[in-house]
Amino acid sequence: MEHARILALIHQTAPVLVAAGDHFTQGFYKHLLTSHPALHHTFNPANQASGAQARSLLDAIVLFVTRYDELETLGDEARRIAAKHVSVDVQPGQYAAVGASLLATIQAGLGAAATPEVMLAWELAYGRIAGVLVGLEAATYQQQQAQSGGWAGFKHFVVARVEAESPDVRSFYLVPQDGAPLPAYRPGQFISLAVNLPYFPYRQLRQYSLSDAPHQPYYRITVKRGARTGDAPAALVSNYLHDAVGAGSVVAVHAPAGEFCLAPGATVPLVLLAGGLGITPFMAMLEQLAEERSARPVLLIHAVPDADHQPFGRRLRELAQRPGVRVRSLYQVAPEPTAADGPGLLRPLDAADGPLTADHLAALLPPDWAGTEFYCCGPLAFMRHVYALLAQRGITDCHFEEFGPSHRVAELAPTAAPPAACCPYGHQLVPQPEPAA
Ligand SMILES: Cc1cc2nc3c(=O)[nH]c(=O)nc-3n(C[C@H](O)[C@H](O)[C@H](O)COP(=O)(O)OP(=O)(O)OC[C@H]3O[C@@H](n4cnc5c(N)ncnc54)[C@H](O)[C@@H]3O)c2cc1C
Ligand code: HEM
Repeated sequence: MEHARILALIHQTAPVLVAAGDHFTQGFYKHLLTSHPALHHTFNPANQASGAQARSLLDAIVLFVTRYDELETLGDEARRIAAKHVSVDVQPGQYAAVGASLLATIQAGLGAAATPEVMLAWELAYGRIAGVLVGLEAATYQQQQAQSGGWAGFKHFVVARVEAESPDVRSFYLVPQDGAPLPAYRPGQFISLAVNLPYFPYRQLRQYSLSDAPHQPYYRITVKRGARTGDAPAALVSNYLHDAVGAGSVVAVHAPAGEFCLAPGATVPLVLLAGGLGITPFMAMLEQLAEERSARPVLLIHAVPDADHQPFGRRLRELAQRPGVRVRSLYQVAPEPTAADGPGLLRPLDAADGPLTADHLAALLPPDWAGTEFYCCGPLAFMRHVYALLAQRGITDCHFEEFGPSHRVAELAPTAAPPAACCPYGHQLVPQPEPAA
């Protein structure tokens, strides 16, 4: 089938699926997990329950399919998805199962409009997107395994020690059980843990950012105990790690992946905006810059409830002593000044300044931020807030990392009115003219 014809058929039918929204995407996962129950060991049930994962997938399919003719410009999106896939060890052979469930759900969703020609167009489009992702994933697997100490799949690590970072946050220091060298990683990358819980039928995979500089004799992750809201089931893996995992425990780890990383060798100023535990990838970045004695100017803003609940508070104060490094902690509750605070570390902005505001940014950002790199990590509400504040200042080029299924940057805009021809998840469905018969 001609490329233009595929595009026309996709553009004609995608809006119906997009309009069905969660109904469509949840139908897809139900189909997939019923026909391949073993995939329960791969997908995160909390993300299924919230619908976040399903929306994320539909979002990606719509984005890729509607911009099918310019896939090469979607590199960042594709790399982000491929990194997540690699972390959960997605294999090329699984694309057929996902494709079959997707096509079956599309067919059901379109009803009479699902002509053989329309279905062939979707099949070809899916195949092309799958090809792009499989290629990126294969390259990453190859890179991971080519490193000294590299491995495929999940490998056993022993917990060497556990350290409390705040009342509900602990760091776990992991070393390979076989004593092999540890492959390096790029600060900002994350690993996946595979955990078999005694009280849950399926293996659980969760991602955790590496929170220390590479080249240490361990991988360090820093985990917050999961909160429970209302009648929701307790958070599975984080509570298990806090309650049942200690020195000597063995966990299964997938090799580091992720694209939320500093550009190698960059020297331009860096602004890091962390909300709560979103500090973890930034700890790895700051530690690496310190190790390299980098002269790169860095501003870290860390928004946390109070000093007691600030993971790495003491270490941040030490890192802030380095030339060119500024650390500003924004507390909802002002700490009493102590002699240990040191000059310029906690004051003046720490004093009960509450959430990050436009005034904070005006006071802290360099007057000319051209060339400055911005990174933000934290809860979705925090990232939306940051996105809006930066946008007010004309800064639209910020890297975001989410501790769950990712939203695209454009979707972080809290009040952005969707363009007229826009799907509910933020992607423009540009109407395509029907090709002349
Ligand atoms: C790239 C990346 C990096 C990350 N880095 C870190 C990190 O450095 N540190 C860290 O602590 N975390 C990090 N995370 C988050 C981490 O992967 C886990 O999501 C987190 O630990 C929660 O997992 P859990 O198993 O404890 O909770 P889950 O069991 O996944 O539950 C999460 C929430 O959903 C609720 N829930 C579960 N099931 C349902 C249901 N059926 N209905 C309604 N609600 C439900 C739970 O009550 C809980 O509030 C990262 C995630 C990503 C994607
Ligand atoms: C063209 C095909 C596919 C597309 C477009 C796609 C898209 C996505 C997207 C957008 C995400 C979320 C990424 C993020 O959070 O940043 C994701 C995550 C994921 N995908 Fe895919 N995917 C595809 C195929 C597959 C296949 C074949 C598998 C194999 C089982 C798979 C398994 C997963 C898993 C396990 C996650 C993590 C979900 C979780 O948190 O539970 N995907 N995918």
